[in-house]
Amino acid sequence: MPPQPHAFMRPGNIGGLVVKNRLIRAATSETMATASGEATDELVRLYSDLARGGAGLIITGHIYVEPRGQYEPRQLGLDRDERVAPLARVTDAVHRHGGRIFAELSHAGSQSLIPEIVPLAPSIVPNAIFARPPVEMTKADIGDVIAGFADAAARAQRAGFDGVHLHSGNGYLLSQFNSPFANRRDDHWGGDPQRRARFILEVYRAMRRATGVDFPVTARLGLADAVDNAAVGNWERMQVSRGWELIFSAPRGAGINPVLKHARYIGGSSS
Ligand SMILES: Cc1cc2nc3c(=O)[nH]c(=O)nc-3n(C[C@H](O)[C@H](O)[C@H](O)COP(=O)(O)O)c2cc1C
Repeated sequence: MPPQPHAFMRPGNIGGLVVKNRLIRAATSETMATASGEATDELVRLYSDLARGGAGLIITGHIYVEPRGQYEPRQLGLDRDERVAPLARVTDAVHRHGGRIFAELSHAGSQSLIPEIVPLAPSIVPNAIFARPPVEMTKADIGDVIAGFADAAARAQRAGFDGVHLHSGNGYLLSQFNSPFANRRDDHWGGDPQRRARFILEVYRAMRRATGVDFPVTARLGLADAVDNAAVGNWERMQVSRGWELIFSAPRGAGINPVLKHARYIGGSSS
């Protein structure tokens, strides 16, 4: 009998999407966009090479969904319709080599490094890594950011991405909402694990409405992002875990498939 390929080289499915193997390139920020956030030839070459090298699925570096969510210079944006055509060159290049590609959608929240941006956050808690003081998001801000994720997901779909990946790790806005450290609200959006989990669920629901029922949506989930492990007690761990449990047990169609689970990210130049 001929040798069988290793399990990770066999095809796999994410929902209805077939991926030729289980070799997944984890999201890694490229900082190869133009100064205004559009895809470049350099970026097309990078993703073409990764697909040619055999990756079944590539997750892009984090892409900001609205201008206030930008993390760093030369990061990709999906905040405007003009982004679609240049990004379609990236997805075409990957598909030509039989690969699949998901757009990682993100909002930096209090972690933005762009000096001109007044960082948004669930509460006025200085960023755990950079100590930048944010402003507390109003209800209008929350609605705008949710709409930003939905619009960006629809643009990703139009640009030919095979799915979208929500960046709810590494201390960015989605993970800030889920964290009892960063989210000190006591309203619809904070106060207990259920209310802290609401933001990502509402983002998910809005994206689902914008992309239809079959479009794959996955997520990176952080547990104690950017918080020194020594400072994380069992109570806090339990609170975050409870939030994620609520997300996974949400009614059919409202939950998220975590293909990559990132339990811990501490310090350094997070991305
Ligand atoms: C330079 C660099 C850029 C990264 N950019 C992103 C990113 O854009 N989005 C993301 O979710 N993770 C990002 N990460 C985190 C990686 O996906 C990964 O989780 C991390 O390198 C740890 O991998 P490991 O658990 O295999 O050691 C980045 C990591 C590095 C080193």
